[in-house]
Amino acid sequence: MVALHELPYPTKRIREGGVEILIPDPNAYRRSDGVYEPAWAPVFYNPRMGFNRDIAVILAAAYRELAGLEKLVVVEPLAGSGVRALRYAVEAGAYVYAADIDPDAVHLARINIDINGVTDRVKIERADANEFMAKLRRSGVKPSIVDLDPFGSPAPFIDVAIQSIGVRGVLAATATDTAPLSGAHSRALRRRYDVKPARTAWEKEQAVRILAGYIIRRAASHEYGARILLAYYADYYVRVYAELRRGAGRADDSLSSLGYGAYCPYCGYTGYIQQPDTRCPYCSAPLQATGPLYTGPLCDPRLVQLMRRIAEERRHTLSDYERVAKLLSRLGEECSIVKPYYRLDRLCSLLRMNMPKPAKVVEALRYKGYRATLTHFDPRGFRTDAPHPVVVNTLVEMRASGTRQA
Ligand SMILES: C[S@@+](CC[C@H](N)C(=O)[O-])C[C@H]1O[C@@H](n2cnc3c(N)ncnc32)[C@H](O)[C@@H]1O
Repeated sequence: MVALHELPYPTKRIREGGVEILIPDPNAYRRSDGVYEPAWAPVFYNPRMGFNRDIAVILAAAYRELAGLEKLVVVEPLAGSGVRALRYAVEAGAYVYAADIDPDAVHLARINIDINGVTDRVKIERADANEFMAKLRRSGVKPSIVDLDPFGSPAPFIDVAIQSIGVRGVLAATATDTAPLSGAHSRALRRRYDVKPARTAWEKEQAVRILAGYIIRRAASHEYGARILLAYYADYYVRVYAELRRGAGRADDSLSSLGYGAYCPYCGYTGYIQQPDTRCPYCSAPLQATGPLYTGPLCDPRLVQLMRRIAEERRHTLSDYERVAKLLSRLGEECSIVKPYYRLDRLCSLLRMNMPKPAKVVEALRYKGYRATLTHFDPRGFRTDAPHPVVVNTLVEMRASGTRQA
């Protein structure tokens, strides 16, 4: 039993999902505007990431079922308070190997493991993430899931995480460096992800696809194929789940899902191209192109369907069931359309028209026989498989008929 009284800072006991944990008391770490600043606390715990962890445990449970795994082994090398590791153990029945470089985090996580009575299933130690994952690999641990949840970019940990996966497993990564990933900090994007920067009108999807593409490229260099199981954008971060399977042929196949993301600032075209210095296929203007990035589906529909069922069954234990259900339902519709979303406000500004409701545009495109849906990326966005001239004509028709605006 770890002695609770040894903590040299004020604490609070809270519940998140199916676990109860001790955290640094948020009231002691508020900014002058009253907002809690998790980075100021001696150990990092961000309640807003409860949603990210909800999705993580549901995906783990669904993946276990789909892959027919008898035992779920999770590695979490950047564990903070231990909340994620605990939720994997308690809510997905996983065996978890966790680490953190900060001794205060490890101490608090040990207390939290004790509180939840899972000392036999969650092990934590003080270690550097990369050294920890390399050590587990040497000792023969074969993770079903490696979950990277760092401050900022997961790039420094991705190579070792990939190598720590045996024949088959899932790499999950959160990235909070959304400014580089969405093209706003071009030098950091080149440095961290080896990506040619540009700003598209679909910057949140660009961020998700760049991280997914980076995982695919790094996996290929270690002779793993990578299949994107789920990838989304929420709050201020990007989250990608990729299933890795060893094999040079698989690696070659997954590399074929890479390309460059394109945006034409003159006619609003959005799409993918194979070479970055291509001109717009519709108006011949120079395209803004970024990549390499992933150009395939953002989720596996079977997995998402199962996750929806599991979420529904656990609606009372998740930290935000309504939000989880909404994201999964939206992603379920979105993943069949791979073309990037359109920002309707940008397109309407190019066409010098007022913006109709995105749902009306979706309806009009569906009426014409195309697939179309709203997008979780942006309330002003929609995605469709309709060719660009059809999208433009549809809007021009709506302008002419005076369709109600948003
Ligand atoms: C964003 S927090 C993790 C939050 C946690 N995964 C959760 O869901 O609440 C990142 C953690 O990584 C730890 N960290 C930073 N660099 C590290 C490294 N090189 N090796 C291991 N841990 C590290 C920090 O101490 C911090 O606790």
